[in-house]
Amino acid sequence: MDTPESTLQQSWQHNADAWIEAIRSGALASRVQVTDQAILLAIMGRQPERVLDLGCGEGWLLRALSDRGIDAVGVDGDAALVAAARAAGSSPVHVASYEALALAQVDIGRDYNVICANFALLHQDIIPLLTAMAPLLAPGGALVIQTLHPWVAATGDYQDGWREETFAGFPGQWQPMPWYMRTLSSWVNALDMAGFRLVGLQEPQHPQSAGPQSLLMTSELRGRQLGSG
Ligand SMILES: C[S@@+](CC[C@H](N)C(=O)[O-])C[C@H]1O[C@@H](n2cnc3c(N)ncnc32)[C@H](O)[C@@H]1O
Repeated sequence: MDTPESTLQQSWQHNADAWIEAIRSGALASRVQVTDQAILLAIMGRQPERVLDLGCGEGWLLRALSDRGIDAVGVDGDAALVAAARAAGSSPVHVASYEALALAQVDIGRDYNVICANFALLHQDIIPLLTAMAPLLAPGGALVIQTLHPWVAATGDYQDGWREETFAGFPGQWQPMPWYMRTLSSWVNALDMAGFRLVGLQEPQHPQSAGPQSLLMTSELRGRQLGSG
C-alpha cells in the first residue's frame, strides 16, 4: 500500500532530472537570492572541519563546502541524485534512505562538526532519524536544519499535517510530492525528543518579499556541555 512516505520517495525518483536542472540553472529565485547563502553562513559560522549533508540531493551544498576547504560528506535516498552529485565532483556521497539511517544500517562516517539538512526533512516522523544522527556528531557539534517556513507553508491552516507540493511554476515535468508540514513548536519538540536543544533560530528573508523564505534552526545536543554526551 502506498503511504505518503513511499510516494514522497517515489516522487524524487521521478523528479530527479527536473530537480537537477532547476538547481543547476538557478531557476529557484528564493534559493539564489536568500536560502543558499543563509545555510552556508549558518554552517560556516560553526567553523567546521567535517560536515554531513543529510538529503544532499544533487550536491550543490557539498560542492560549496568543499570549495571552502571543508571535508563534506553527502547522503541521499535517491540513486540518480547521488550519481549526479558524484559526477559533479562531490565525494564521498552515500545512497541510503532515512529509514536505513535511523536503524544505523549504513556507515556514513562520524565525528561531524555539523550535520545539515537543507529542505530535506520532508517526512513525518523525523525523531528516529535525528536521534540516530546524534552519535555521529563530534563534541560541540551542531545540527543545522533549513526548511520551509511553517507560517508561509501553512497558508491559513497552521496545523501539523501532510501537504502536497505540485511544483507549479517550476520548469519541467514534475510529479507532486507529499511533504509533512510542522509548526514551529512541533519542530522544537521533535528536536527536543531527539536530544537536541535549539541554540539559534533565523527567518531568512528577501528585503522585497512580504514573508520569510525559510526557517533555519541550529541545535546542539543536550547534556554534551556536562560531559555526558
Ligand atoms: C528538496 S530536496 C533537497 C536537496 C538538497 N538538500 C538541496 O538543498 O538541494 C529533498 C531531498 O531529500 C531526499 N529525501 C527525501 N526523503 C528521503 C528519505 N526518506 N530518505 C533519503 N533521502 C530522502 C530526496 O531524495 C531529495 O534529494
